[in-house]
Amino acid sequence: MGRVASIVLRVGAAVNLILGVAVWAGWAESMVMVHMALGLVVIVAAWTLALPEATAPGGNRALAAAAVVLGLVLPVIGVLQTSVEPGPATWAMRTLHVLTALGMAGVGEAAFARRRRAATVTTAMTS
Ligand code: HEM
Repeated sequence: MGRVASIVLRVGAAVNLILGVAVWAGWAESMVMVHMALGLVVIVAAWTLALPEATAPGGNRALAAAAVVLGLVLPVIGVLQTSVEPGPATWAMRTLHVLTALGMAGVGEAAFARRRRAATVTTAMTS
């Protein structure tokens, strides 16, 4: 489950980064719905990786909470940035959108890595 979510997160985030730039540059404006839908899939993947971190004994709850918050904020900024008047605020929101997306992917991967390490230690101690 975690491995699949991790692959979806990595591949989805990388593809969406390219799609986002293509939409923004005007090369693929019709792909904005695909970008948004794939973005939501990536958010679900990040939450799937964060959930065990929230529930496991000794899990880093702050890390899990960060994944949830970033996943909630990401689509809001993404949609809002299209209705902001062109100017410095647009650039700030674009930058924030990309940073939120990358931050969420990083936090999701960090949560997955922590759970894998914990599982390895438990296996080593019990075998
Ligand atoms: C892994 C997740 C995501 C990544 C890596 C990503 C990346 C990007 C990038 C690089 C851009 C172009 C530059 C910019 O405007 O910031 C962009 C634009 C955009 N993104 Fe995302 N995004 C993600 C998720 C989402 C989600 C979940 C939504 C909404 C549900 C969304 C909605 C939008 C919209 C509406 C635009 C503006 C397109 C335009 O300029 O007309 N994105 N995204």
